[in-house]
Amino acid sequence: MGNQENPTAKITIDPAFVVGPVRRKTFGAFVEHLGRCVYTGIFEPEHPKADEDGFRTDVLELTKELGVSTVRYPGGNFVSGYRWEDGVGPKGDRPTRLDLAWHSSDPNLVGVDEFAKWSEKAGVEPMMAVNLGTRGTQEALDLLEYSNIKGGTALSEQRKANGAVEPHNIKMWCLGNEMDGFWQIGHKKAGEYARVAAETARAMRMVNPDLELVACGSSAPTMPTFGEWERVVLNETYELVDLISAHQYFEDFGDLQEHLSAGHRMEAFIKDLVSHIDHVKSAIKSQKQVNISFDEWNVWHMSRDESKAPTGDDWPVAPVLLEDRYTVADAVVVGDLLITLLRNTDRVHSASLAQLVNVIAPIMTEPGGRAWKQTTFHPFALTSQHAAGTVLNLAVESPRLDSEKTSGFTALSAVATYDAEANEAVVFAVNRSATDALTLDGAVGSLNPARVIEAVTYTNKDPYWQATADDSTSVLPSENVSVKLDGGRLTTELPAVSWSMIRLALNS
Ligand code: AHR
Repeated sequence: MGNQENPTAKITIDPAFVVGPVRRKTFGAFVEHLGRCVYTGIFEPEHPKADEDGFRTDVLELTKELGVSTVRYPGGNFVSGYRWEDGVGPKGDRPTRLDLAWHSSDPNLVGVDEFAKWSEKAGVEPMMAVNLGTRGTQEALDLLEYSNIKGGTALSEQRKANGAVEPHNIKMWCLGNEMDGFWQIGHKKAGEYARVAAETARAMRMVNPDLELVACGSSAPTMPTFGEWERVVLNETYELVDLISAHQYFEDFGDLQEHLSAGHRMEAFIKDLVSHIDHVKSAIKSQKQVNISFDEWNVWHMSRDESKAPTGDDWPVAPVLLEDRYTVADAVVVGDLLITLLRNTDRVHSASLAQLVNVIAPIMTEPGGRAWKQTTFHPFALTSQHAAGTVLNLAVESPRLDSEKTSGFTALSAVATYDAEANEAVVFAVNRSATDALTLDGAVGSLNPARVIEAVTYTNKDPYWQATADDSTSVLPSENVSVKLDGGRLTTELPAVSWSMIRLALNS
């Protein structure tokens, strides 16, 4: 029984109600040539912990611990002005270029070969974006030939001469980035982008038919062209691509309850996007299913000073940019966003937390110094580590909440995964209330549970607590002692502003 004073949310879990598989690609991240993500983030040859290739081994370790699957590269806005050829060959010959997207300079010491090597060391799959801003089909084809052809052609031989004897075999490719955005270098109208995306996709498939191609969707659900952009782009590319991208960032403007509704707003965006995709599918009478690559998502305090790019004559290399410090509340939101992505695993086939290191990131570094975990690291790492098997559709009865701009969202956001092989089920749950604890009352008899393996909750009396380099460990996910499993009934208390994970061992 729950605490009588708390509102109660009821869930029913049944292993027969399958949404789809837990996809490893849900746990992707993003490395952009932006601020200190690459230079002094993943790459810092002078650092005492750098390996023989200049990669920070402390960051490699944390990337593995985070449980990242795919990593999108090299942008982001950066890619729309990028010449990939600048980043290959002897380092001494590589030019320093202006990066117009972030008003910085890029020495090009990391390029496709280094990123492929880093990905191998990190145990992640690279997801490459091509420049469809200032460049087009030919340059995308050149990068594909350089990366994926075994040998015997000009560009594949060039790669081999540069030391990468084996092809990188990059399977996932983004056809540009946020081409609907006025800020994007080479920003295009939907029809213009649709044309170049279709031509590029068709030609890239002539090289490697089984690539996984991602067309640019809208850069936010608030874009005035959202919906119409997808219709026009998919009309032309539907049979040529596998996925369409979704990007969405959430900011805390000081209204905690509004901030905590982020998962609800992401869910609404996914449902809308699915309608737009399926409208085109139906209109063109296609048998194929295009799905979603949610390849930029996170909390980003975009209007704060740390997000302002340099101006004027100042074009620094690796400036401090977008180095948001995250609170426990931000981590609860990130946990909820991941729950939302999992809940929609039937249509969200890939996702990338933006970004990985230093730039709106779960991992932070000091140049020459320490690497440490932000609050958002924890729900991501635990979900990636323990979500396995299939995602289950829960029956949920939850009290509803209202905030300033968002109304009628459930206080409870939850998802369960069921791993038949390991005989384990996991419930991930967020209490979105800024003020009240919530009793979770679960009917779990159909799972035939044996015992609770582990129950942890991430919360804090001060939801605005932030980790720092000096103290990143005094607030961590800790044991939730209120969890009770009584036959087929699972109960627990979820504090206000909290993220929880309950792992159940099942009878076989
Ligand atoms: O992730 C930061 C930026 O956000 C990316 O460069 C861009 O694609 C988006 O607007």
